[in-house]
Amino acid sequence: MAYDHKIYRALPGEHNLTDYTEACEELRFESVERQFSWHSTGRLNIAYEAVDRNVMEKNMGDSIALYFSDGAKDIRYTFAQIKDLSDKFAAVLRKCGIKKGDRVGVFLPRSPELYISFIGIFKTGAVAVPLFEAFMEEAVKDRLGDSGAVAVITVTELLERIPREALPGLKHLFVVNESPDHPNVIHWWPEVEKSDALPIEWVDREDPMFILYASGADGRAKGLVHVHGAMVGYLITGQWVHDLKKDDVYWCTADPGWITGIVYGFLTPWIMGVPVVVRGGRFNAGDWCATLADYGVSVWYSAPTAFRMIMSGGEELLKKYDLGRLRHILSVGEPLTEEVLEWSLANLNQPIYDTWWMSETGMNMICNYRCLDIKLGSIGRPFPGIGAAVVDDQGSILPPGQIGNLAIRAGWPAMARDVWNDHEKYEEYFKIKPWFISGDAAYMDKDGWFYFQGRLDGVINTAGERVGPFEVEAKLEEHPAVDRAGVVGKPDQLRGEIVKAYIALREGVIWSRELHDQLRNTVKTGLAAHAAPREIEVVAAIPLTREGKVDRRVLKEWVLGLNTGQPK
Ligand code: PRX
Repeated sequence: MAYDHKIYRALPGEHNLTDYTEACEELRFESVERQFSWHSTGRLNIAYEAVDRNVMEKNMGDSIALYFSDGAKDIRYTFAQIKDLSDKFAAVLRKCGIKKGDRVGVFLPRSPELYISFIGIFKTGAVAVPLFEAFMEEAVKDRLGDSGAVAVITVTELLERIPREALPGLKHLFVVNESPDHPNVIHWWPEVEKSDALPIEWVDREDPMFILYASGADGRAKGLVHVHGAMVGYLITGQWVHDLKKDDVYWCTADPGWITGIVYGFLTPWIMGVPVVVRGGRFNAGDWCATLADYGVSVWYSAPTAFRMIMSGGEELLKKYDLGRLRHILSVGEPLTEEVLEWSLANLNQPIYDTWWMSETGMNMICNYRCLDIKLGSIGRPFPGIGAAVVDDQGSILPPGQIGNLAIRAGWPAMARDVWNDHEKYEEYFKIKPWFISGDAAYMDKDGWFYFQGRLDGVINTAGERVGPFEVEAKLEEHPAVDRAGVVGKPDQLRGEIVKAYIALREGVIWSRELHDQLRNTVKTGLAAHAAPREIEVVAAIPLTREGKVDRRVLKEWVLGLNTGQPK
């Protein structure tokens, strides 16, 4: 592997992290705990550290916690308001009998109520189950059913995607929007407004905080269990990677249906007393630039696909906005390409700092830092205290330049602690001891910078969203025209990858545009729009392994146009 990566020199400045090597030698996660109030009081709950503490101990009650806009409305909430409303919502939940350990679904578009609901759930000690707003009935049913959720918070428009009859454990449905009376739903606002406050429920640091479903290569999505103690990792990465300071305005563009939108979308900045910007509605390059300018965003965490979409608006687009406060830009979820980095340098006068992590890791793991050089194409260096390595299939560390499994020495504060209802699946991550095997391929250069080389297991990453091929295949195979389906990621200029489906039709079925649309729709309406294949190709037979599973290696070769020797 060549080492001639283009280098962008570290910038001088007052960064929170100034000496990476020293930090690696000295950081002990236990010492970060001293920064939390529970370290001295023994009373722990992330809702207290993220919201209440800012009001009660830091005199920040009147400071803005949330700037929300969706084009139509523009609302701001102070920390005191978030505290008050989440205290009351927690009491409403308690009145419904919801207690510590119960699971509560959050199925909402980006809105202030979404954030308040999360904090309210945490205050009762219950466990939030985030559901991405685009999930359709089947995906919602799987997640609410598997987690055994007793309540869900939603809007009337999404109610029809919650199959109550199939979810006997689901007792309470809250709707946050104003709506005519609906049978059997509880109206969030009137209940919250008339409620008293609930004293916060203290929890153990190992108690679950949220269960996030993430797609894998086989089987259904896995419910990754994240615990309150993860906040130790949130805080120190917020300080050293995101370089957050008290005067910052922070915008993480990820939806809280995904890990980034939860951990960095609000928990991390709020723990640090930093206000967050939330933009509702659909993506629009102009709206996003206006959001950066209008709120004076100073730290921006986004993804390559979003950067590329703004790039496609042309140089003129950015010139219309005053982005003078923007001082630190970070990226996650997909490879950060040279054109995006160069675009940022040319148009935003600064580089973009790539970060690598996963739903499973719960916090930034391998990152670029303001005090270090950026090497083009590199996801950066392990966060201090994190033992990352490239290992072979037996767990031996490979020398620099060799591609292998990107692995992390098990045991860090924000690591998912289990897979809900499936401990065996959890154990699979650790089958090569002492490593957590990420499923990503990577190599490290001789100076210790890591380079992402793709997934090893067939999980598709389309515009930063994770799609499990198995779920899409199963959905396609439900259609009577499809005998067998094989789904794979196809490289794409804009989205990184798109979902491509190969299908073998049942005998006698004639392929048509109409059938193509039907199949796309089956996935769109059954799972989620982002999982629907953008390309469907009919083949004589789907390649199978000896065990009768879809042979993803052949599919990958097909999609890359390589000569597989296996006819389509
Ligand atoms: O393949 C890696 C890719 O996203 C996967 C994790 O997806 P998810 O759990 O949805 O979490 C997304 C963000 C926390 C990884 O296994 N990925 C993540 N960061 C990067 C990346 N690929 C390339 N570059 C990155 N910086």
